[in-house]
Amino acid sequence: MDTIEDLPALLDLVASHTGPVGRYTPAPSGNMSDALLLVESEAGRFFVKGMRNSPGGRLDSLDRELTVNSHLDGIAPRLVATLRDATWAVGVFDYIDGAPADLKTPDGARCLARLIDRVSDLRLPVELDWPETRWDRFCETPELLRGRTICHGDPHGNNVIIERASGRAYLVDWAWPTLAAGFIDAALLANQLICAEHSPQEAEAIVSDIRGWRNADPKAVDAFLVANVRMMEERYARTEAPWIKAVLDGWREWLGYRMP
Ligand SMILES: Nc1ncnc2c1ncn2[C@@H]1O[C@H](COP(=O)(O)OP(=O)(O)O)[C@@H](O)[C@H]1O
Ligand SMILES: [Mg+2]
Repeated sequence: MDTIEDLPALLDLVASHTGPVGRYTPAPSGNMSDALLLVESEAGRFFVKGMRNSPGGRLDSLDRELTVNSHLDGIAPRLVATLRDATWAVGVFDYIDGAPADLKTPDGARCLARLIDRVSDLRLPVELDWPETRWDRFCETPELLRGRTICHGDPHGNNVIIERASGRAYLVDWAWPTLAAGFIDAALLANQLICAEHSPQEAEAIVSDIRGWRNADPKAVDAFLVANVRMMEERYARTEAPWIKAVLDGWREWLGYRMP
């Protein structure tokens, strides 16, 4: 997000809710949105996530993030306004002044595990029927991945904000929440922990506090690991990005530990 096209139009739209924008700063990380800004006005500080309001973009993802927000019981920063004009679709959230979780440290790792455990207690209203299917193509037994637990789908350290003043942790970036088996986020976190230099054994110990993990069928977990290796192999063959290789190596290491 080096430059934002149509930034004046975005700031005008945001100002329709916040009042005149005094200062704005790009977010420190994140690259899946067309605009991510800290915005300051007399009404306070806000985090703005914007997508271009045009077909073929990632509007669906923003819509899902805006829809799920009120069902997350404060685990995500509060959505304060949804704004839309011909150019932009925007979510305005409370700005959380804090730092990401460092998954290399036990505290950072446990903090994200606790957030996921809390997510697994939540329920979505029945009309939000979002079955998880992203791994189906890579799995012979996709029925083992089904369930009714809310799945964040991208639990990593930069999607956590630990508020400086209160120490309270938030899970951000609800770009594609789904309903799935209760162990999926725990397994995605374990992969991130292995990528952050924990051993598979340590990673499993850290996620073992997550209820959805404790109740998981080991066969389902193994099937999910195999599916992730295949998915990441396919992605790496397409792009050869170093971060994809690191995630792939994490899944391989864990699979080697569980199925030597
Ligand atoms: N409400 C918020 N307050 C402060 N910072 C935030 C907030 N939401 C997200 N961020 C920061 O912005 C970054 C990018 O936002 P995120 O929702 O993860 O977008 P992306 O989908 O592009 O990764 C996050 O990693 C976090 O550092
Ligand atoms: Mg993110």
